[in-house]
Amino acid sequence: YARPAQDRHPDRPAMSVVAHRGASEDAPEHTLAAYRKAIEDGADALECDVRLTADGHLVCVHDRRVNRTSNGRGAVSALELADLASLDFGSWKEEALGGETFGAEAPYRRSGVFGGEAPDRQNEDPERTSVLTLERLLELVADADRRVELAIETKHPTRWAGQVEERLVELLGRFGYTKPAMSTDRPSPVRVMSFSARSLHRVRAAAPAIPAVYLMQFLTPRYRDGRLPAGVGIAGPGIRILRAHPEYVAKAHRAGNQVHVWTVNEPDDVVLCQELGVDAVITNRPKQVRMQLGLG
Ligand code: G3P
Ligand code: CA
Repeated sequence: YARPAQDRHPDRPAMSVVAHRGASEDAPEHTLAAYRKAIEDGADALECDVRLTADGHLVCVHDRRVNRTSNGRGAVSALELADLASLDFGSWKEEALGGETFGAEAPYRRSGVFGGEAPDRQNEDPERTSVLTLERLLELVADADRRVELAIETKHPTRWAGQVEERLVELLGRFGYTKPAMSTDRPSPVRVMSFSARSLHRVRAAAPAIPAVYLMQFLTPRYRDGRLPAGVGIAGPGIRILRAHPEYVAKAHRAGNQVHVWTVNEPDDVVLCQELGVDAVITNRPKQVRMQLGLG
């Protein structure tokens, strides 16, 4: 990188690195392969999007349809979990990576590791590139040998009129995440994010212990002063907001809110976030960002 990250203010802890859809630059997004790699790469937290299947399962898929990230077609909401489980969510990434050759530094990028008919796939764990349920991701986090946080984004929640949040709270309850946090020094490892304030309110009404992140594509006049919807303590601005309004971070902090920024892939944006005292960056390349920050 051309420029190193600057030192942070001594009163603030290190900027947290959140793996966006897993280590999604190197591995197919929202698969176990991508999340395992993110944990190996030292990510502090994992980000995922969740959608409800036709038979009521929460699965980790970004787009409304599976067309881009699998060998299938159709809307997640119209497919059952068994339909999704028959699809390959890995091979598209090999094609996207375009047959580049990669060294030992990026073992997940070798041709033939994500899916398809490669002979060396016979002994591989088929689960690593099949559709990922939120339940399986929660198990991965629970089984990790260190604290790994999880930031779960509810996608287009109005479509299901509260069912996404209901199912989410029920699942988080089963894993023990809806109990009050043990201390402010060690907050809940799971948080919920959304562009919809209504979705966050639904989650918090049912589970007030779960921290909420209000995602923002634009800085609307209502929230320009750093305040957030009631009960929400973390702002989630896109990096473009910070480029245009760097003063926003200090305003949010003065209002008592944290700032988690997405999607921070460019080295200069990492520097900007570090200089502004951002609390967490959400990135497709957790390993590289950690190296830039002197953490890896
Ligand atoms: O982490 C927030 C970010 O993921 C929001 O945008 O489209 O990648 O879900 P998107
Ligand atoms: Ca997301």
